[in-house]
Amino acid sequence: MQFKILAIHGPNLNMLGIREPDIYGSLSLDQINQQLLAEAENLGIVLDTFQSNHEGELVDCIQQSFGKVQGILINPAAYTHTSVALRDAISAVGIPTVEVHLSNIHKREAFRHHSYIAPIAIGQICGFGKDSYLLGLRALVTHLQAQERMEYSK
Ligand code: DQA
Repeated sequence: MQFKILAIHGPNLNMLGIREPDIYGSLSLDQINQQLLAEAENLGIVLDTFQSNHEGELVDCIQQSFGKVQGILINPAAYTHTSVALRDAISAVGIPTVEVHLSNIHKREAFRHHSYIAPIAIGQICGFGKDSYLLGLRALVTHLQAQERMEYSK
């Protein structure tokens, strides 16, 4: 099966490149998405991308992906630390999800150490800049392939 994956970017990530480049790097979101799309092609999967600054829009996007995508790669940005709604949406659709962050949230302010998403994600990758996204995409595809092999061998 050719996997379809949705990469979701949360609030303020549309400001990448301008926003605190010492923390988040100098690449724009568009450039990160281009790199993700190139990696998706290498991996033989289909990738869609979505960004919103609005919690409800992110919830709608996750709900609408039900039955349409096999995996979600998400940088929930500030909503990581606040949003029960995003976590519930991911749990509701039951789509395997990998959480990524450009910065190492565990090395930063205490309020960034807690993630509402991590306990319901397959895993979390943070601290590698834009490579967090690329590593996260590879990890998600590897997970989906392993899951598929398990299903076939049943
Ligand atoms: C972030 C880390 C969050 O704490 C922050 O609110 C962001 C970006 C990251 O990618 O490092 O907006 O998710």
